[in-house]
Amino acid sequence: MSIRTFGILGAGQMGAGIAHVAAAAGFDVLLADVALARAEKAKADIDKRLAKAVEKGKMTEEARRALVDHIKPVEGVPALAPADFIVEAVNEDETLKKQLFRQFDEICRPEVILATNTSSIPITRIAAVTKRPTQVIGMHFMNPVPVMKLVEIIRGLATSDATYQTTVELCAKMEKATIVSRDISGFIVNRILMPMINEAAYALYEGIGTAADIDVGMKLGTNQPMGPLELADFIGLDTCLAIMEVLHTGLGDSKYRPCPLLRQHVDAGWLGRKTGRGFHDYTAKG
Ligand SMILES: NC(=O)c1ccc[n+]([C@@H]2O[C@H](COP(=O)([O-])OP(=O)(O)OC[C@H]3O[C@@H](n4cnc5c(N)ncnc54)[C@H](O)[C@@H]3O)[C@@H](O)[C@H]2O)c1
Repeated sequence: MSIRTFGILGAGQMGAGIAHVAAAAGFDVLLADVALARAEKAKADIDKRLAKAVEKGKMTEEARRALVDHIKPVEGVPALAPADFIVEAVNEDETLKKQLFRQFDEICRPEVILATNTSSIPITRIAAVTKRPTQVIGMHFMNPVPVMKLVEIIRGLATSDATYQTTVELCAKMEKATIVSRDISGFIVNRILMPMINEAAYALYEGIGTAADIDVGMKLGTNQPMGPLELADFIGLDTCLAIMEVLHTGLGDSKYRPCPLLRQHVDAGWLGRKTGRGFHDYTAKG
């Protein structure tokens, strides 16, 4: 089957990023969220970023227009019925993702592949709620999607070779490098990254250093482009907590227990950059 139309559910930071790279690769994109206004805002934000690239001479005005014209904001799951390939990018919530995959299974043509951008939830469990587990796959983009080269691909127990091949080819068209992970909670990247972020939250919780010193320490001391607390704020503290919970319950080892301070920040609604405050305060920085 030739793939022309990408259906993306969830127009948050990841869904918008995936829409951007899919449109840049020439695919038609249906970008859906719970409300049309959210999908429209995501498209407007992509357009604003492209306008800056045009200003800086990094992109032509024609290329900008062509890219945004490929993105059509829509509302809800049913609007994705015409898609040839689905990528789900809603919040990291297994119950929600399963509910949406049941709906995709009903509305999408039988040959359509259903991919999830989950950061940590086993694909096999999501695939099992559909009647097409051979066509369900993990397609874990990195944030920010237009900048980061990697897509981590996760095959569920039933994922077919054909589904895997098609997904790898789509990643290549979007100029992404791929790695393959076994379908174990957290996969490769977050199995390693998230415990480091959680440990940084513990270091802050135990008063070992200030948030600024922890971040500068890891940036200058271990040559990371962002400190772990700054990175957590960028990812979203709700997403970080959800991933730690998947690691903790999925692997059953107490070393993955989420830091109480991380949980408290989420309880307070301090979710990081997206709410203006997380481990750091962004309200003054605009
Ligand atoms: N943030 C990261 O750095 C990162 C990196 C890789 C993968 N991920 C994964 O990507 C997914 C999305 O993360 P995000 O950071 O974009 O979150 P986000 O909070 O920025 O966006 C989630 C979006 O999903 C929408 N949504 C929720 N329920 C919906 C529904 N029923 N129908 C349609 N839309 C719905 C929300 O309105 C919101 O716009 C998660 O599974 C996350 O684990 C995140």
